[in-house]
Amino acid sequence: MYSLGYIANYLISSTLYYCDGNPYLMKVFLATYLLIEFVYTLLIKIDVLTSPRTKLDQYISEYKEVNTTSTEEKFAIVTGANSGIGLETSKDLALAGFHVIMACRNKASAEDIISKLELETGLKSFEFMQLDLASFKSIDSFVDQYKKSHSKLHLLVNNAGIALCPYGKTKDGIEMQFGTNHLGHFKLTNGLLDLIKASERARIVVISALAGYSGTFDKSLILDESKYNNVFNYAVSKMCNIMFANELARRLAGTGITVNSLHPGAVNTNIFKNYPEGLAGMMEVLKSLLLINLIEGSLTSIKVALDPKLEGVTGKFFMHEEEAAQPSEALDEKKCKELWDFSEELIKKHST
Ligand SMILES: NC(=O)c1ccc[n+]([C@@H]2O[C@H](COP(=O)([O-])OP(=O)(O)OC[C@H]3O[C@@H](n4cnc5c(N)ncnc54)[C@H](OP(=O)(O)O)[C@@H]3O)[C@@H](O)[C@H]2O)c1
Repeated sequence: MYSLGYIANYLISSTLYYCDGNPYLMKVFLATYLLIEFVYTLLIKIDVLTSPRTKLDQYISEYKEVNTTSTEEKFAIVTGANSGIGLETSKDLALAGFHVIMACRNKASAEDIISKLELETGLKSFEFMQLDLASFKSIDSFVDQYKKSHSKLHLLVNNAGIALCPYGKTKDGIEMQFGTNHLGHFKLTNGLLDLIKASERARIVVISALAGYSGTFDKSLILDESKYNNVFNYAVSKMCNIMFANELARRLAGTGITVNSLHPGAVNTNIFKNYPEGLAGMMEVLKSLLLINLIEGSLTSIKVALDPKLEGVTGKFFMHEEEAAQPSEALDEKKCKELWDFSEELIKKHST
């Protein structure tokens, strides 16, 4: 029997087939996606599907069953773990047996969350480490510190993100949405790669967004402030997340490490806080009515991170807990390599 996620993704993928590459038809694609997402969310909200908590518990117990014989402590890093999808993901990874390093920029908020998680789960598996993805210095110091105290990394969840913000720059002078969502994670992942390679069957999970399908990797959109559009530049950064995951998957082929990207769904979190002035109250009400909650919104991340059936599956994109078709640009190997080279050049040029 096909799951509802499979059917939703089939409809989304079929629409993508006809619209891909045409900027006007991509608007039709996004509208169709929103309609399908709305129906899917509605079915979750009226309890037509298996309860999300039951599904999460299933993923956790299936993972534990396969890993019963392993006595080795497993380490996971989750970026942006003090809020939203990252918070729920951290909790579920700890329940699956991981020691979770919560890589957050706000120490007070992360420590408060850790106390609550310890109380809720009865586990002492959470550890805060300071990380600001909008600062090369902070990323370097995170990597150095992690390497001093750990020799392995079994799971990296590149989750942190910002969206729709007014034009801004990272500490190193790079457009903020690209700099945080893509470049910071690019630098972090590469810095940790030798430890990931030292860990058996390690996984890298990149949280992108379906919005990325309407983005494109074009250097001028990242370098030229006059071309900045807060919505489109979010899509650009999320397209880069998918392209980075695909390129890294190719570079790591044969190592046993898998790299996949995903769309978590339309989730009620703090991410969309840049509302037009005066609409904040109404937006909060709409969010709680129309968007899925944190448990529902973490299902795809947890499945991609843990599911034993995904062993060896790499370079794929997931949503609604199922694999989905990718836009042609993300599958263009030459463009993905171009993004990789551009990212390296930017880091070199902007490092002091
Ligand atoms: N919510 C959705 O509907 C949706 C849809 C598609 C994709 N996504 C993706 O899902 C991921 C998680 O977002 P969310 O919805 O859970 O939003 P959220 O609640 O706002 O969480 C975002 C997290 O990223 C952290 N972060 C932001 N900038 C950072 C930086 N420079 N360094 C370190 N951490 C930073 C935030 O830290 P602070 O608390 O310090 O700000 C926060 O912990 C994002 O990548 C987002 O693009 C979300």
